[in-house]
Amino acid sequence: MAAGRAVGAREGGEDAFRRLFRLYRRREGSDLAAVIDFSKPRARQVINAPLSYSSVSDQDASRAGLRPVSQWKAYGLESYPGFVFIPNPFLPGCQRHWVKQCLKQYIQKPNVCNLDMHMSSKETADLWGQSQQQLRNKRSNKREAKTLLEKLRWVTLGYHYNWNTKKYFADHCTSFPSDLAFLSEQVAKACGFPGFRAEAGILNYYHFDSSLGIHVDESELDHSQPLLSFSFGQSSIFLLGGQNREEAPVAMFMHSGDMMIMSGFSRLLYHAVPRVLPNLEGKPLPSCLELPHPTDLPLDSVIEPCSQEVWEVCAKYLQASRINMTVRQVLAEGQSFPTETRTNQELDNVCTGSYHEENSEIKKHKSNIDS
Ligand code: SIN
Repeated sequence: MAAGRAVGAREGGEDAFRRLFRLYRRREGSDLAAVIDFSKPRARQVINAPLSYSSVSDQDASRAGLRPVSQWKAYGLESYPGFVFIPNPFLPGCQRHWVKQCLKQYIQKPNVCNLDMHMSSKETADLWGQSQQQLRNKRSNKREAKTLLEKLRWVTLGYHYNWNTKKYFADHCTSFPSDLAFLSEQVAKACGFPGFRAEAGILNYYHFDSSLGIHVDESELDHSQPLLSFSFGQSSIFLLGGQNREEAPVAMFMHSGDMMIMSGFSRLLYHAVPRVLPNLEGKPLPSCLELPHPTDLPLDSVIEPCSQEVWEVCAKYLQASRINMTVRQVLAEGQSFPTETRTNQELDNVCTGSYHEENSEIKKHKSNIDS
């Protein structure tokens, strides 16, 4: 364990991480004073993190929809070497592209999603098309049937993570989206990982009743490369723990546009998302999402304009939701998957698991397609 990190005693058979997870998951009466807010960092353990300004040209940053790296702020946490938090470095208007991709583009086949467990490929062929009108017309004060988009919990990209076996397989891989690969490579370069290759992605879709259970992302065969995380929409509380669950985690807010990099010592730490909460500005959407597409992006930018019609549906979805994209490199340069005999379960690519946890305190919102 790194020096200075709190070790919580096991109480009533419950480890320190689980205890704090349950505390922060409570919607009423949980004290958020200790939750670090990197948009106004004052907490004692927050330190500045170095960035490599010269490794990403302003042109490439702007092609990815990002401000010049020299304008980013980057923070670390004492006792968590390799952890970097970058509060929203996106150019005004550019987050909309990634939200649209997560709701309209990346959910399409051949990518894999939780709905594949219950529905035929014909039924999941056009989740956006089947949801958009109903979502647009929804009134927030009425209890109506959930759209398919609202039943979405996860999508996998590139090497498709198998939730049952917690493995990736050489033959279960589809092409990784080139725009997201480009964004990830720029962020990795700025954080000192020029060789990073985006090979697998997990998109998590959250609502106010969602949480993501305590886990470590260790299935990638190469842990020398970072795990990148991008968040959009409503805010969340993220818990970063230690190498075992007896260590009490540190709590931080993740707001729309925020990025997190877990590398080195912090690459294999326990983490979780106990709670999604309305953005702290108290508006239906955080103001950084209210800005329209910029007019001065380079011609070869990966950011596509999002039409007003499409954005209205995305905005409606995000009023009660958060989307997180994590991007990983699975194999080291020149590495291949071990040859192994696969069990029938491993050959079956339809997954029944996930890290999503239903909040038992608000069962009335329980969707009928929860993982
Ligand atoms: C993850 O740990 O895989 C996702 C974390 C998040 O949603 O912020």
